[in-house]
Amino acid sequence: MLPPSLQQTILLGGILLAPIAVAVPSTPSPLDACGSLASKNISSITVADVSNCYRAIPFNSTQAKTTLETVYTLFKDYYVFTDLALNPRVPKPFKNEPVDVLGRLETIGRTKYSSDFQFHTDIRATIEALKDGHASCDVNCYASYNFVNRLALHAPVVNGTQQLRVFRDIHDDEYKGCIVETIDGQPSWPYMKWWSTNVLGYSHDPNARLNLALATQMYKPDMGRFDTFDGLFAARTVPPANNTIEYQLRCDGASKPIQISGEWIVQPVNDKVNFDSIESFVKNVCLAPNDEESAHGPTPAPVPIPNPSPAGPLPGISVQEFPGAEKILEGNGTVFYHLKEQPHIGVMVIHTFDIAPVEIEGEVVFQGLTALNSRNVTNLVIDFQSNIGGYVELSAIVVQLLFPNKSPFDVLLQADQRVAKPLQQAALHGYRANTTEYMDASLLVDLKTGLPYKDNSIFSRPVTLTRNGRQNLYTERTALLVPTIPQSQVDVIKTFPWTDNADNIRVITDGRSGSATGMTTYLLTNEHNVEAFVVGGTAGEDMSMFSFAGASVLALSDIQQTYKGLGAVSPMRDIPYSSTIRFSWLEVYARDSSIPLEYDAVRFRTKNHLNYSIETSFDRSAMWKQVAALSWKR
Ligand SMILES: *[C@@H]1O[C@H](CO)[C@@H](O)[C@H](O)[C@H]1NC(C)=O
Ligand SMILES: *[C@@H]1O[C@H](CO)[C@@H](O)[C@H](O)[C@H]1NC(C)=O
Ligand SMILES: *[C@@H]1O[C@H](CO)[C@@H](O)[C@H](O)[C@H]1NC(C)=O
Ligand SMILES: *[C@@H]1O[C@H](CO)[C@@H](O)[C@H](O)[C@H]1NC(C)=O
Ligand SMILES: *[C@@H]1O[C@H](CO)[C@@H](O)[C@H](O)[C@H]1NC(C)=O
Ligand SMILES: *[C@@H]1O[C@H](CO)[C@@H](O)[C@H](O)[C@H]1NC(C)=O
Ligand SMILES: *[C@@H]1O[C@H](CO)[C@@H](O)[C@H](O)[C@H]1NC(C)=O
Ligand SMILES: *[C@@H]1O[C@H](CO)[C@@H](O)[C@H](O)[C@H]1NC(C)=O
Repeated sequence: MLPPSLQQTILLGGILLAPIAVAVPSTPSPLDACGSLASKNISSITVADVSNCYRAIPFNSTQAKTTLETVYTLFKDYYVFTDLALNPRVPKPFKNEPVDVLGRLETIGRTKYSSDFQFHTDIRATIEALKDGHASCDVNCYASYNFVNRLALHAPVVNGTQQLRVFRDIHDDEYKGCIVETIDGQPSWPYMKWWSTNVLGYSHDPNARLNLALATQMYKPDMGRFDTFDGLFAARTVPPANNTIEYQLRCDGASKPIQISGEWIVQPVNDKVNFDSIESFVKNVCLAPNDEESAHGPTPAPVPIPNPSPAGPLPGISVQEFPGAEKILEGNGTVFYHLKEQPHIGVMVIHTFDIAPVEIEGEVVFQGLTALNSRNVTNLVIDFQSNIGGYVELSAIVVQLLFPNKSPFDVLLQADQRVAKPLQQAALHGYRANTTEYMDASLLVDLKTGLPYKDNSIFSRPVTLTRNGRQNLYTERTALLVPTIPQSQVDVIKTFPWTDNADNIRVITDGRSGSATGMTTYLLTNEHNVEAFVVGGTAGEDMSMFSFAGASVLALSDIQQTYKGLGAVSPMRDIPYSSTIRFSWLEVYARDSSIPLEYDAVRFRTKNHLNYSIETSFDRSAMWKQVAALSWKR
């Protein structure tokens, strides 16, 4: 049964809900729903104020038709997993329902809407149902406000029992550490499992989604230290069902449980936007020109925390947050620590692969490893928690700095791409023609020669693959072109005690580790036999090391620009409302496998599953020590 407060967010399951009536203010007012939102002092905006404005946006069937047709074409001819998603039959740790994304979009096309918000919410939910972190639909005007709850929760195992507890409380951490017994009157654990399993997309593994829902520590480069990430249960862009979440808590030493209201703090994402009515909201927010960027990086944008961060210490190596671990060097995506009481252990935290130029960050990784070696470190812990991906090129550099290539094919991930008819025509002119990789084979490797293709003929001679009964055209097996590290670096690193030596390396992930991070972890664990530890999820249940490792991501706008740049007409019209729609395009395979990695569940598993304890939830260095102690006896 669905907790009633969640019905708004869940629209799938065969039947779409009837359109929700437009909210009518109870007292007559010259202001409409968006006008009344605009007139409020920011500090007193409620969830209902935002919801009422969103729901009041009228449905324009002309615009909706354009939107739906474009999304439909994108998922019919460009998204690479449309056929695989039909009936994946994947083993543990995945849990997939078959998703007929085209069928669901057709259902939306037959539904009568009066609310534009409902229409867009249904499209978004259809794409989220794919449980692919690379596939998303974000419409800017319906993500104009952030909602952060008073409490952020986590699920450590204490004395052998896993329970939801308060990770942080905006009110001076008053209830931090208390056990959460109920959420909106429902037993908290099944409620949270239900919420994360059904509301979130992101991963084929519900336990990775559980980790994403909950709070954790995440490295903040602007602060130069780890800080709280609230988790997507407590920090949202979709308006929650009610103005508060009602919690029943049990705190240490108290004989009785207590009830508290967890209010949502509502903040505009962009305070420069001007509107004073429904009409001006549509004009100035929904239809505003899109200044979106291309989708090179990871998809799921971390939800910003509305409270301005405390000024905090200056970034740089002066911030020494862990008494037992010395920070020795940091780049924009990488931080190196040296454990003081176990001086043979070094730690490399890579918190993002979304750093360009990749060669510069690669140099940081090289310098960090060199520094650890000069301190006589012999064993390396690599921490990928919360890293949701970025550049495959950087991932390739990192892997080579640990396992130098013996053959140029070592670090290449085999891949293919959908080749629909409209693409073939435009691709004739795409060779080295533009900066978007979608139709340019100079960025792909011919696996027969190990070199980039010399022309774009790969798009003119596709192969037919049949998946779940559907036939479609794909390129032959190829691979993304990635850099190799210079021989001068190989000559230095080859003497390090962990280089080419899986026994001296361990990886820590949290299941949220996604995309390029997943590919890196795949290469380290499956091809180089490094052992990985995954932390969190549900104690005692199997869990994925990583998520959405099986593809590269692009935005719809990238394809549109490619067509424009080539002077060709895209089969997709631009979407009227400013939005970012992302999709998986290049699907990768594990070596010698015929199952695309995205659905190759066994490659995601690890036998090493750790629980969070109270200590390791709040002190990352305690987790590094735990992994080192479990891995290397001294
Ligand atoms: C939240 O809203 C739903 C639907 O209106 C309601 O059934 C539920 O009881 C509300 N929860 C609380 C705690 O008010
Ligand atoms: C908004 O509300 C806060 C707190 O109630 C108050 O301090 C502030 O002066 C108000 N701002 C405006 C512009 O009314
Ligand atoms: C719907 O959108 C179209 C295209 O932007 C516009 O021409 C038309 O006036 C709109 N209809 C209404 C009722 O606003
Ligand atoms: C765990 O169990 C020990 C021994 O029974 C007890 O002293 C301690 O308070 C328990 N810890 C928590 C957090 O419940
Ligand atoms: C995690 O917690 C579960 C349940 O308390 C327990 O059975 C399991 O042994 C724990 N795992 C580890 C690695 O301690
Ligand atoms: C980190 O980013 C800053 C600002 O973008 C840039 O100036 C700097 O060169 C980068 N450092 C590294 C090591 O990449
Ligand atoms: C590393 O080990 C060498 C050889 O044992 C020793 O000479 C050197 O002082 C050590 N360096 C550090 C930083 O401990
Ligand atoms: C590449 O695309 C951009 C953006 O559409 C366009 O301005 C540019 O002319 C294109 N470059 C080439 C070489 O076709």
